[in-house]
Amino acid sequence: MLELIHVRSESHSYPVWVGCDVLSQQYWLDSLPFLDQILIVTLPECEPLAESLVTRFASHFGVMVNKMVLPVQERDKGLETAQQVWSELIRLEYGRQAVLVAVGGGMLGDLIGFCAGCYMRGIRFIQVPTTLLAQVDASVGGKTAVNFSGYKNMLGLFYPPTAVIADIHALKSLPEHDFVSAIPELIKYGLAFDAAFFTWLEENITGLVARDETILSKAVSWSVKVKAEVVEQDEKESGCRMLLNLGHTLGHALERCQAHPPISHGQAVGLGLLFSLQLSEKHFGLSPAVRQRVTAMLQLSNNPTSMPASISSAAILATIRMDKKHLPDKYRWILVECLGKACVVTLEQDVIGYYLKEWDQHAQVEY
Ligand code: GLY
Repeated sequence: MLELIHVRSESHSYPVWVGCDVLSQQYWLDSLPFLDQILIVTLPECEPLAESLVTRFASHFGVMVNKMVLPVQERDKGLETAQQVWSELIRLEYGRQAVLVAVGGGMLGDLIGFCAGCYMRGIRFIQVPTTLLAQVDASVGGKTAVNFSGYKNMLGLFYPPTAVIADIHALKSLPEHDFVSAIPELIKYGLAFDAAFFTWLEENITGLVARDETILSKAVSWSVKVKAEVVEQDEKESGCRMLLNLGHTLGHALERCQAHPPISHGQAVGLGLLFSLQLSEKHFGLSPAVRQRVTAMLQLSNNPTSMPASISSAAILATIRMDKKHLPDKYRWILVECLGKACVVTLEQDVIGYYLKEWDQHAQVEY
């Protein structure tokens, strides 16, 4: 199965190819304009895949292709690492026609997109996402960023890629934890935008966790279509794109609070979804059955459903204050009005503080 989804951005339209073994096929290469001065940037664990792409690009375009391996993690996604990439581009004497290719997860895609957006006021870049999280979220929509001064994604650009190639085969070797912890992001698309996708996910959650390639392909391409529709309407996040942050306000705070054992982005988003659903029950009278269904999906995909005991509500509130979406003394929170429809509400600090405190005391909020 091979799906081609076109995403229209303000500057250009770009293809997102999704399918099993898509990288070894010819369609996506044939669809690209002539490329020269190609630098493929990758992580150590993705080096074999990057090496195979060096060969494909070189023989397809008849040019010399360079590769750079960055042994970096999320905490290294900063200006120092970006500088290494820019220095390499300068060392290679690459100009404005250069192309960066990111072969890795969302962290690498964010970094390389940022590097591409800044180098000589913008060069092209191609995303080859190798994690489920990057395939369904980070690689589409043009958000690029580096962390700065202790804050996640503090410096960045909206800078859409030239193409995205999401090969489902790349997910086969992903460590179990990295794979399953992306599932809350998929649940998020269903909850916020598409009730039919939510129900389909619920019916196929076991096959998804078992990495059935047909189910995975459909889950990735459906998610990309949902996200494409949102970012086409609101690329710069002044309206409906904010709804993609469902579960992320609490999620980002949980990540920053450094739980013991550590909590990953996807796990934190899963807990953020549950908290937002609890607030939605209070605010909109949303049926608790939705939260029960999400809880069941999180459990079936081995994601946590209760707050880590090592994090206090006070610590969470303090970190939420730095969230880019907030007005002074008020919190913008994404809630679910009904299954498949999210909206932004403004809540007083006290309200959030009150419910977080309850969560702190009982590990999970009960109304
Ligand atoms: N990850 C949320 C967005 O792309 O807007």
